[in-house]
Amino acid sequence: MITTIYQPIPENIALVGKRLAEGDVVGIPTETVYGLAADAWNDEAVRRIFSVKGRPQDNPLIVHISAFDQMKPLVKEITPLARKLANAFWPGPLTIVQPKNDAFCSSVTAGLDTVAIRMPSHPVARAIIEAAGTPLAAPSANISGIPSPTTADHVYDDLNARIACIMDGGECEVGVESTVVSVDGDSLTLLRPGGITLEQLKSVCEDVSVAKGVLEHLSDNEKVLSPGMKYRHYAPKVPVIILDGSFEQFVAYVHEQAKLHDVGAMVFSGEGEKLRVPVLEYGASNSGKSEATGLFSALRRVDSLNKEVIYARMPAKDGVGFAVYNRLLRAAAFHVVDLNAPKKIRVIGLTGQTGAGKSTVCEKLQDYGYYHINCDKLARTVVEKGSDTLAALVDAFGEDILLDDGGLNRRALGTLVFTDPLALQALNAITHPAIVKLIESEIIYASGFGCFGAIVDAPTLFESGADRLCDTVLSVVAENSLRTNRIMERDGLTQAEAEHRVSAQHDEQFYKDHSGAVIYNNGSKEDLIQAAWQILKQQQLLPEDME
Ligand code: TXA
Ligand code: MG
Repeated sequence: MITTIYQPIPENIALVGKRLAEGDVVGIPTETVYGLAADAWNDEAVRRIFSVKGRPQDNPLIVHISAFDQMKPLVKEITPLARKLANAFWPGPLTIVQPKNDAFCSSVTAGLDTVAIRMPSHPVARAIIEAAGTPLAAPSANISGIPSPTTADHVYDDLNARIACIMDGGECEVGVESTVVSVDGDSLTLLRPGGITLEQLKSVCEDVSVAKGVLEHLSDNEKVLSPGMKYRHYAPKVPVIILDGSFEQFVAYVHEQAKLHDVGAMVFSGEGEKLRVPVLEYGASNSGKSEATGLFSALRRVDSLNKEVIYARMPAKDGVGFAVYNRLLRAAAFHVVDLNAPKKIRVIGLTGQTGAGKSTVCEKLQDYGYYHINCDKLARTVVEKGSDTLAALVDAFGEDILLDDGGLNRRALGTLVFTDPLALQALNAITHPAIVKLIESEIIYASGFGCFGAIVDAPTLFESGADRLCDTVLSVVAENSLRTNRIMERDGLTQAEAEHRVSAQHDEQFYKDHSGAVIYNNGSKEDLIQAAWQILKQQQLLPEDME
C-alpha cells in the first residue's frame, strides 16, 4: 500500500470523508497533534487503529466530534459541568471523559464505562468529520511509544504503507495533545495536561485536582485513572535527562560531562550557539506555548544525533508549559537533576591486589545498579593529546615525553619515573588531582542517570586520594599463591614474572587497615560473589529488591 498525502482542498476532504465512512483508517490534522482516525461507531475500523499503531488494547481512544449534538448518543447524560466546559473550550484542545451510553459499544473505550470526547478547532479536522458524517475515534497518529506527530511528514515517517492516506493540514498550532479531564458531579480531575491550561480550567470549575500520574512515575501495580499514563511515551532510545537550573549552570554541567561522554543538548532558541555540543532547540525560553510547538519535533530528532545522552533544559512549567513538562518528564523517564542541589548517591571505592578478583566483584556491583567508574581508563583520558594535564607534564619533564604526533610517549615517561622516586612523585602530583576531578564528574554523571550508586574502581585508590570521594572502600584480597597462578593464566606471564608482580603489591594487612571491609577470594567465583553479597548486605549497600 502506498500512502498518499492529500492537500486540504474541498474535493480531497470529500474523498477522505467518504473513505472514513466506508471504514478506512486515515491520518488527519488537528490543532494539537495529528490523529489516526476511523468511524467511532465502526468497531472493525476502530480495531484497525490499534493494530496500525501497535497500541495496547487497554488504552482507550478519544472520540472527535464537529457538532455538540454528536455527543448525546455517546454519553449517559450531559452534566452541567460538562456543558460548561464545552461552552468554554470547544472547539479546542480539551477532552472530556464522561460515563458512556450503553448503546455506544465499541473498542474505542477499551472496556471502560467512560468515553473521552473532544471537538477539535482545526478547520480541516472539522470539515473531515462533517464529510464523514460520523464522530471519529482518533489517537495520535504515531507508532505507539514515539512522540506524537505535529506535521503530515511525521505521520508519513511513522505510518507510510500502513494507511491509505494522510490529510496535510500544516504544522499543528498547539503542538502537544489535548488536555484530558474527567468530570464527576461538580469536580474535575486533570488526567493529562495539554492545550487548555490548569489556570483556564480553574476559571470554569472551582474544584480541579491533578491525577497522581501527571507528574509522578506510577508503579506497575498502581491503579491509573487514564490508561495512557502508564505507558512509556515520547521516549527516544537515547536517555534524556532534564537539568533544572540557570542556563549558566546548564552550560557548565554539559561541558563538564562532554569531557568524558558523547553528549547532546535540548535547549531554547538562541542558546545553541553558546554550547560546544550538538543541540536541538525546542522553543523560546519562558514561553510554554512556543516550547509546546517545538517539543515533539525535537524529541523525534534526538536519536539521529547519535549521542550517549541528551541533557534538556527545564521547560516553563506554567500554562501550556505544564503539558510540555509532563511530556518531557516521560521522555526523560523522570530523570531530573536539580543543579542547585544535585542528588547524592552512594560511592563505593573498590580496590585490591592484582589477581584477587576485583573485576568479578565490580561486575556484580553493576548488576546491583552501580555505575562503573574505571579509573585506569580515566588515567589514560586525563593525559590525552591536547589536555591541560599533558601540557603540565611537558612543563615538568620536557618535550621528550611526547610522541611525534603530540601524544604522550608512555614508555619514555615510564623510564623517567621508574628509577627516580622524586620524578614519580612529581608525576602523581600532576595527574592524581586531575583524575580525581574526572571521578567527581563521573559520580555526578551517574547520579543524573538515577543510578543506585557508583563504584570507583581503582588499583591505586588510596595513592591517588580518590578514596576521599568514597562513602566506603571495599578491598578484594587473596592468598599470594592463588593470585600468582591467576595472573599467570590471565596475562600469560611466567611464574617469576607473576611472583614479582604479586610481591610488589600491598599486603592483606594494608587493605584491612584502610578499607571499610575486606572481601576474601580464596575459593570459587561463586564463593566470591556470595562473600561480596554478604558484605554489601551487612553494610546496607544493596538496593532493596536485591537483598
Ligand atoms: O490532542 C489529542 O488529544 C490527540 C488528537 C489526535 O486529538 N489525540 C490523542 O489521543 O492524544 P491519544 O490516544 O494519544 O491519547 C488519548 C488519551 C490517553 O492517555 C487515554 O488513556 C486517554 O486519553 N483516555 C481515552 N479515553 C479515556 C477514558 N475513558 N478514561 C480515561 N482516559 C481516557
Ligand atoms: Mg498518543
